[in-house]
Amino acid sequence: MSDTSTSSAPGGAALITGASTGIGAVYADRLAKRGHDLILVARDEARLNALAERLRGETGVKVEVIKADLTDKADLVKLEQRLAADTAITVLVNNAGVAGAGDFVGSEPDAFEKMIQLNVVAVTRLASAAARNFVPRNAGTIINLASVVGLMPELNMPVYGATKAYVTYLTQALRAQFGDSAVRLQAVLPGATRTEIWERSGSDINAMDPNMVMDVDDMVDAALAGFDQGELVTIPSLPDAADWTHALAAKAKLYPNLSRSQPAARFKTA
Ligand SMILES: NC(=O)c1ccc[n+]([C@@H]2O[C@H](COP(=O)([O-])OP(=O)(O)OC[C@H]3O[C@@H](n4cnc5c(N)ncnc54)[C@H](OP(=O)(O)O)[C@@H]3O)[C@@H](O)[C@H]2O)c1
Repeated sequence: MSDTSTSSAPGGAALITGASTGIGAVYADRLAKRGHDLILVARDEARLNALAERLRGETGVKVEVIKADLTDKADLVKLEQRLAADTAITVLVNNAGVAGAGDFVGSEPDAFEKMIQLNVVAVTRLASAAARNFVPRNAGTIINLASVVGLMPELNMPVYGATKAYVTYLTQALRAQFGDSAVRLQAVLPGATRTEIWERSGSDINAMDPNMVMDVDDMVDAALAGFDQGELVTIPSLPDAADWTHALAAKAKLYPNLSRSQPAARFKTA
């Protein structure tokens, strides 16, 4: 694959999916202010252009806009090719996502498939393209937007939650596979965050306890603080990081017994 380079910013360029609004748009603002050039991706070109114009004016960074529907294979493959080949790209924020279709029996299977295409397939293919770019150079950052819903199967969002559990698992597994590589990885697990995703998925965020809803600027700032602290998994509202460490340790206690030559004694028939 040919090597193209499009940024002269010292920090390189950050490619952000779902940058036209919400969490992605705030990442764009913060990463521009950190000196990254930007490549903003979403379907709504007018909104992307308006954000690009504001950020060029406010920060002086270069901002490119790519209109792409990440559930469209041709659009996705084109973006992957760029991401794998452009060595000026140093950051991928794998953010575009959809929620909804909570009722497993009453929802259209096509809605599940579309969600999986965006939240799982596109995230995986773009992370893979970024890894092919970053790992050989021992540099670069992949930030994946997961969700606390992926930790709570009881929340009545079975497919959305499963896609987000996948994103956290993928991030942890890549960290394990990349070993000592200097490539940085982070899974961000927001709780309820005030963005359009709620309206888009037919839910009313104003019906939620306001104590559970975070402002989108606060959420992204906390996620970036977690990134700066070197966290692999960041839960912006979690006061004590040790609670996460304990949860991981409890899971790791299962490991020695997860694959053995004999069934457990409790399953032995007489
Ligand atoms: N808000 C929350 O409460 C919350 C909580 C936990 C996790 N998250 C996760 O955070 C991420 C961002 O969510 P958000 O709250 O910022 O959502 P949002 O406000 O609805 O924004 C979603 C972004 O994704 C883009 N997008 C949607 N479908 C797309 C497609 N087919 N192709 C390309 N881009 C597409 C949208 O742009 P266009 O419509 O212009 O394409 C938009 O820029 C998601 O992965 C979400 O699951 C959100």
